[in-house]
Amino acid sequence: MRTRSWGGVALLVLAGIVPLNVALSGQANPEAGKKIYAASCQNCHGATGKGDSEMGAYLSPPPADLTAKPTQAKTDAQLRKVILEGRTGTAMTGYAASFSGAQVDDLLAYIRSLQP
Ligand code: HEC
Repeated sequence: MRTRSWGGVALLVLAGIVPLNVALSGQANPEAGKKIYAASCQNCHGATGKGDSEMGAYLSPPPADLTAKPTQAKTDAQLRKVILEGRTGTAMTGYAASFSGAQVDDLLAYIRSLQP
């Protein structure tokens, strides 16, 4: 079991971002992930995850289409590694210092909810 920061959870519950039952169950929350995505990922990966942002047009390689089969076929562990460590030779930087493990779980839950 991973551990959540209880202070952070309490804050999110108070702010109404995370329903109490979700916070207490410790399950990944795609709605919370969506908010993190909108703030930190969308400007490259696009509003719907397809990698079709304005910024993406200037990047080589372009941001991954997170809705596409090649990405969705990867394991959570593989995707988590890219999110935490970034990918060498691309604009994808690592977010290990930015997010807690629980936040990355939420991001992964959101990515899994994306449809092509
Ligand atoms: C500066 C632009 C940029 C930002 C911001 C960004 N990414 Fe990326 N991302 C990329 C690029 C470029 C790649 C690499 C594409 C490739 O390897 O062809 C990538 C790859 C990935 C992959 C790997 C996909 C695969 O199939 O292997 C994941 C998962 C991912 N990003 C998630 C995220 C998440 C979650 C965030 C926000 C926390 C984020 N990215 C923020 C540009 C960005």
